[in-house]
Amino acid sequence: MSDRTNRLRHPELLTVEQAKRLSVAETADLFDRHLNPGQLHFMKLLGFHGVLIQRAEGMYYIDQNGRKILDFFGGFGSVGFGHNHPRILAARIQFQNEQRHEIAMAFLSQYAAALANNLAAIAPGDLDMVFLGSSGSEVVEAALKLAERVQGRERAKIAYAEGSFHGKTRGALSVTDSAFYQDGFRLLDNRVRVPFGNAAALEAALEQDRSIGVLILETIQGGAGIITAPPGYWRDVRRLCDRYGVLWLADEVQCGLGRTGRFFAFEHEDVVPDVALLAKSLGGSKCAMAAMIARRPHYMKAYGAPKHALIHGPATFGGIGEACVSAIEALNVLYDEGLIENAATQGEYLLERLSALQAKYPAMIKEVRGKGLMVGLEFRDISQMLPIGVRQMVAVLDDKLKGSVCGFVGSLLLKQYGILVAFTEYNRNVVRLEPPLIVQRTHLDAFADALDDLLGRGITRIVTDYLRIVRAG
Ligand SMILES: Cc1ncc(COP(=O)(O)O)c(C=O)c1O
Repeated sequence: MSDRTNRLRHPELLTVEQAKRLSVAETADLFDRHLNPGQLHFMKLLGFHGVLIQRAEGMYYIDQNGRKILDFFGGFGSVGFGHNHPRILAARIQFQNEQRHEIAMAFLSQYAAALANNLAAIAPGDLDMVFLGSSGSEVVEAALKLAERVQGRERAKIAYAEGSFHGKTRGALSVTDSAFYQDGFRLLDNRVRVPFGNAAALEAALEQDRSIGVLILETIQGGAGIITAPPGYWRDVRRLCDRYGVLWLADEVQCGLGRTGRFFAFEHEDVVPDVALLAKSLGGSKCAMAAMIARRPHYMKAYGAPKHALIHGPATFGGIGEACVSAIEALNVLYDEGLIENAATQGEYLLERLSALQAKYPAMIKEVRGKGLMVGLEFRDISQMLPIGVRQMVAVLDDKLKGSVCGFVGSLLLKQYGILVAFTEYNRNVVRLEPPLIVQRTHLDAFADALDDLLGRGITRIVTDYLRIVRAG
């Protein structure tokens, strides 16, 4: 027994039960003091700060007042399986009840091995060597490092796309086309930016600079506001990478895992990149799990020899037990429940309904675009559309709301219709729609009908309703 007088002081810690019972005001206060005051500011601006989620099930969040919120945000692609999918939940509970191990770096993990097997079985071509991590950024880093080892220092220059988003860690940030995110940080210097979806420009860049040995691209750009490349582009990318000896890293962190109607979005053009990256929903929408899947010859060249095997992997939490089991169950659910096909069918219907709204409100909706359940709804810039008095009221709120109707639409959709959508940092006029792949027509109709009702008010009333209802609290 330790001497009681020598005991360290027990800090004042909240318990799990106390955490569950925190009120809106207490949570906001802790956010302000310890987490992210700036984020709290934006949540207040949009009227999102008054919602505390108590439960989540399928397509819905349920808040502290028992109100259901239809999830068309989908955590930027991380809620592909819906909230608390029963099969994924059951696999996790069973794993816990059996007291299986989580971290076993000293031993071979049967769970990591099985997950790698499944990913290799799904991935096309000879994409069959897997590195497991915990976040999208981590596997982007893994891919950039693998590529550098394969190509050598002389050919380690990385081409990345205008409008790209690959993450916020240093390597990923260096190939993320955002002055906003990069602001003030030192970045990798061996990189060059090329236009997205433009094969001629890519070819010119590769022709001119033979030190470019790596190309990283999102197959559909999410952060830029759901931007797809023109038909044939991915076949051109494959051809050019073969001709110039460039390694193509396909970032499918947001668009992969069935969201576009194929497991990988690049499969729409029947091509195979050199590396494919997954994260977000890979953990079954329950936990962190990410994967880099590389072609075996490249993997072997980079890390195949025993003396090189531990240069990059494994990571402490790469391939941990319950996350692997969640991912294994999730991949089985994806095929057992036909979720990829559902994404294709429901996505088409969503685009149909939104295109009809565009035809009905041409002065407000500029474009509807996307593939499967990765859809962008671009509004027109509203700066000049508002009466001068309302414009002045909006001008004092925040820079982020200027000219863009998305904040107002998103706020009112949540407050008045119980529907959650996502915003886009790079293009403030785009609402991103990435509902779970379990979505049904009734949910799409509920969303489209709500949007129709809201847009029917006209731009001035949307803004004044926001000021009256959301800002007033
Ligand atoms: C295409 C893409 N790549 C990488 C990332 C980074 O993933 P994470 O936030 O898990 O680090 C994201 C995140 O949104 C993404 O959309």
